[in-house]
Amino acid sequence: MTPARFDPASRLQGELRPPADKSISHRSAILGAMSTTPVRVRNYLQAEDTTSTLNAVRALGARVDRHGDGELTIHGVGPAGAREPDGPIDVGNAGTLMRLLPGWLAAQEGRAFTLDGDASIRRRPVDRIATPLRLMGADIEARDGRLPPFTVRGARLRSVAYELPVASAQIKSAVALAALFAEGATTITEPAPSRDHTERMLAAAGVKVHRNGRHVTIESTDALELDELVVPGDPSSAAFAIAAALIVPEAAVSIRGVGTNHTRSGFVHIAQRMGARIEGEIEADPGDAIPHADPVSDLHVQTSALHATTVEPDEVPLAIDELPLVALLGCFAEGETVVRGAQELRLKETDRIATVVDGLRGLGADIEATADGFAVRGGSGLRGGTIDAQGDHRLAMLGAVAGLTSSEGVEVIGMEAAAVSYPGFEADLASLLG
Ligand code: S3P
Repeated sequence: MTPARFDPASRLQGELRPPADKSISHRSAILGAMSTTPVRVRNYLQAEDTTSTLNAVRALGARVDRHGDGELTIHGVGPAGAREPDGPIDVGNAGTLMRLLPGWLAAQEGRAFTLDGDASIRRRPVDRIATPLRLMGADIEARDGRLPPFTVRGARLRSVAYELPVASAQIKSAVALAALFAEGATTITEPAPSRDHTERMLAAAGVKVHRNGRHVTIESTDALELDELVVPGDPSSAAFAIAAALIVPEAAVSIRGVGTNHTRSGFVHIAQRMGARIEGEIEADPGDAIPHADPVSDLHVQTSALHATTVEPDEVPLAIDELPLVALLGCFAEGETVVRGAQELRLKETDRIATVVDGLRGLGADIEATADGFAVRGGSGLRGGTIDAQGDHRLAMLGAVAGLTSSEGVEVIGMEAAAVSYPGFEADLASLLG
């Protein structure tokens, strides 16, 4: 495929509605498949990752009726009713699917499930979920003890108290799903808060979920009572337009229907600390309360004079997928922008410390990798050039936004990777260029 070219933009105006939230869509499909009564989902993300999830739940016996434009009805198999598929479940590129689904499958007594995916997935560790699920009684066998393909054999589960070694919503969610089947209550302790969609959706489905600071306790259940699920716009996808609007001169962009869950809003807070003019209602930290839904707001973004900041480890999980964009903002901010405690980035679709640092440096950035993040000396912007997305959707979109903000333009090799989370990305960006 020929590389996609993104030329410097002198203005960015208008409004857009980001695609539906990927994290919440994955969870909707999995919880829908676990339900006994049909679950209606509105605004399900229609992208490669979340198509993999629909295919996975179909392979497990759920029926998915599409009513067009992101509207689905999922006819689930019930908590204990997952069918053993004929062959391996293909998770494609979707790490969240690969790490959440085993929480459910681990409890399907007498049945075995093999999960596999693309070349990127085969490099991503699953021992992080296998360890707690084994403590709960699961039988999991992985290639080299830690990589896909891997096989989950359903077993009777017991409750545990598990302290997460890293702040990861994927690990937390896998344990939370298994906890629904374990006798007694399971308590998960997080080193720092991470996205809490699973807790919210389980609470909304009638599960007893309690939070006490860093501890989340989940009781077992034999039925999920889900009403209709409405998926908000994805703040991680919206972040690309936000970053572009902060840097491109003469920019004023309204982003409609963005999820503003406080555990997903770290990027907006970091950008505002750098001087970003972003208006809109971000959810206040609900403390120990577990809201049953994710709030939504419109965000209004304007060109802003940025200054450097330091992102500390506690903030990292709240902005994990947007940290590549913090690096981009750092190129345009006066001073040195530093991200610390973000070693988890090395385990994403690519090693995002290496690919972001190498990619932006190739476009003229003064950026260095550290063991757990990066440091960018900003103020002089970006020259431009070529960046290879290496199959990573967020790297492809980073390259595109870098192009608009550069002095010479950027060619992105592998732009099609954006379809993993944001199939309409190029068209949305073009619509703002007018
Ligand atoms: C996700 C959690 C994050 C994030 C990923 C989606 C989720 O991963 O990077 O894109 O939906 O739970 P970790 O929680 O493992 O950091």
